[in-house]
Amino acid sequence: MAGLSGCKALGVVLLAVLAGPLYYTFMPPQVHEVKGKCAVITGASTGIGVQIAHVLASEGIAKLVITARSKEKLDAVAANITKHYPETQVFAVKSDVSKPEDRTALAETVAKTFGSCPTILVNNAGVEYFLHMELQSVKPKIDQMIDINIRGLIHLTNDFLPMLIKSGGHIVNIASLAGKGASIGVNVYAATKYAVVGFSLNLRADMRHRKLGVSVHCVMPGFVTEAGMGDDMGKQIGLPMESVTDLAGFSRPIDTANAVVEAIKYDHPEMIVNSLPIWPLTVIQAIFPRFWDFFFELPLPLVQRSTAWLDKVTDYQSQN
Ligand SMILES: *[C@@H]1O[C@H](CO)[C@@H](O)[C@H](O)[C@H]1NC(C)=O
Repeated sequence: MAGLSGCKALGVVLLAVLAGPLYYTFMPPQVHEVKGKCAVITGASTGIGVQIAHVLASEGIAKLVITARSKEKLDAVAANITKHYPETQVFAVKSDVSKPEDRTALAETVAKTFGSCPTILVNNAGVEYFLHMELQSVKPKIDQMIDINIRGLIHLTNDFLPMLIKSGGHIVNIASLAGKGASIGVNVYAATKYAVVGFSLNLRADMRHRKLGVSVHCVMPGFVTEAGMGDDMGKQIGLPMESVTDLAGFSRPIDTANAVVEAIKYDHPEMIVNSLPIWPLTVIQAIFPRFWDFFFELPLPLVQRSTAWLDKVTDYQSQN
């Protein structure tokens, strides 16, 4: 009997200790508004960036700066947002996050345009290549990913932080499931995304610790369908993307855009956006890193079709 009540007591203590974290994980209260704030989105001329712009405008953003390298595409996106959401003032600013002079110019323009409006910075710009790491010819692609996905993102954040601290606001970093697990051929891309995940968690802790009024969120989409690189690749190599998304799941740009809004409203540190629940794998990986040694070699058609797709994309992108 003593043993049983000891068990009960332990159960009660465990529940009491877990209640807070469980409550905040599964039923967090809404603590922030999006309406009336100002937002700047990088990489906003295509794919996920366009959807984030539309969803933020639909939430009642007052002023929206969209940036990318192609002014032509940006202008088209801006025109469409203005047409559907006339309450939101939209500004299209050509800017390359891998260029220091572009970054400082963007930060200055945005500070002037927004004034003291609380600001949401969405670091969405990114490039992805699957590469065979032993090839010398892939060096330019390695540099491009490092320059845009991580060096650009960190420096742009650094350029924006003075105004964010002054006006209050949010930083939303778009990382990837590649920054949480292991795959085939995504080596450098994964390295940049692991960096974004780590940067986000640490910056969030630092901002909170110093009570600077800036919250940081990281959104991690899985394989993106309907737009972006994976989708184009599938067509180019002649293997449908389902070869890999049947196993790993997928995320549509609209799902990621909705997650950006949810992350801000409910102050989520991290959000994984994927059609299949993939987070248990991240737990398994943390406890058994060796898991991946046999996972990709499993003699299951689902796994083998996926690795065939990844191999073919890696061959293609290493050569083209
Ligand atoms: C324009 O915006 C609307 C509303 O968000 C969307 O449904 C439509 O697909 C957009 N058109 C283009 C060409 O992007």
